[in-house]
Amino acid sequence: MHALAVHTTHAYIVGMRIGNLNLNGRVLSAPLAGVSNRPFRVMAIQAKAAVTFTEMISSEGLIRNQARTREMMAFREDERPIGIQLFGANPESMRKAAEITVRDFKPDLVDINFGCPVKKVVNKNGGAAVLKDLGLTREIIAATVEGAGETPVSIKIRTGWKDDHPVFVEVGRIAQKCGVAAVTLHARSRSKGFSGKAEWTAIKELKDSVDITVIGNGDVRTPEDARRMLEETGCDGVMVGRAALGNPDIFRQMHYFIETGEPPAEPTIADSIAIARKHASLMVAEYGEPRGIVKMRRYLGWYTRGFPGASSLRPKLFQISTMADIDDIFSDYLSALRVRRS
Ligand SMILES: Cc1cc2nc3c(=O)[nH]c(=O)nc-3n(C[C@H](O)[C@H](O)[C@H](O)COP(=O)(O)O)c2cc1C
Repeated sequence: MHALAVHTTHAYIVGMRIGNLNLNGRVLSAPLAGVSNRPFRVMAIQAKAAVTFTEMISSEGLIRNQARTREMMAFREDERPIGIQLFGANPESMRKAAEITVRDFKPDLVDINFGCPVKKVVNKNGGAAVLKDLGLTREIIAATVEGAGETPVSIKIRTGWKDDHPVFVEVGRIAQKCGVAAVTLHARSRSKGFSGKAEWTAIKELKDSVDITVIGNGDVRTPEDARRMLEETGCDGVMVGRAALGNPDIFRQMHYFIETGEPPAEPTIADSIAIARKHASLMVAEYGEPRGIVKMRRYLGWYTRGFPGASSLRPKLFQISTMADIDDIFSDYLSALRVRRS
């Protein structure tokens, strides 16, 4: 049993463990390529995500000492606990990459990506493609665990390459044998991509098959979903990706609901705008203006999903380049909303 506590009828005690790492919650912020950069991670941690992850990092890029790769791995203390996620198809490269990661960056966790379905990655036999060859999977895991030394290693997998050939139980057992501390299962096969519904029964099957920490992932959108996944599968933690796009507060809401069983308060539109503005100011601190604000356009598209009148608001947000632009647009928007409602 790796969760620190089990549930009573109404509430869970919210901690969990990954190897020697104690986490203060059970809701993890997923690695998201092109998205989970430093400002995103700070927003998630401040909203009580139990841990955050970097975008996936190429082991080959790292051992070639590419500046861009190292930039993507850099983090500060206010992002802890943090995992750095590596991918690659060569065990020796993964061992070296894990060694460099731990030596130079000192994350709380090293994660291996065995789930990425994107062609650019699987064509080089990385990501989910590794699941086609369990001998190679084992070698990559063993090498990474060795390279990471004392730092716990987790793996992130899909159910398999194809629907008709699930390998998650076998991979979970291999991982456990190799000294991996946690397995995250995105409960879809690679061939499913992001379509269909995640099959949470697979998460239960994995939890019943291994002793190490199991983290469930796939289609957790609401606080109710998060709790239901814990209850239905017995998993130790849940990982949330898409539901946190433009809504970091979802971590706080899920954490609260898991802890108390009470429905959490939801942010008003003005609250969401204030959260988005804080995110934008972190983007400026990280990337400067206008670069940080231009990068922020996409996030603001997510923040304003479902806002009344979003269809006329969003084209304006896609043209911004300064913090003042954001303030002007949202201030006009809130005034118009007040008029509409009065
Ligand atoms: C934009 C985007 C980028 C992603 N990048 C990564 C990644 O770098 N590494 C990884 O393991 N998974 C990645 N994923 C998969 C997510 O971590 C997660 O497994 C998936 O979105 C299912 O969870 P959800 O239903 O909560 O979104 C990505 C997903 C999306 C939508």
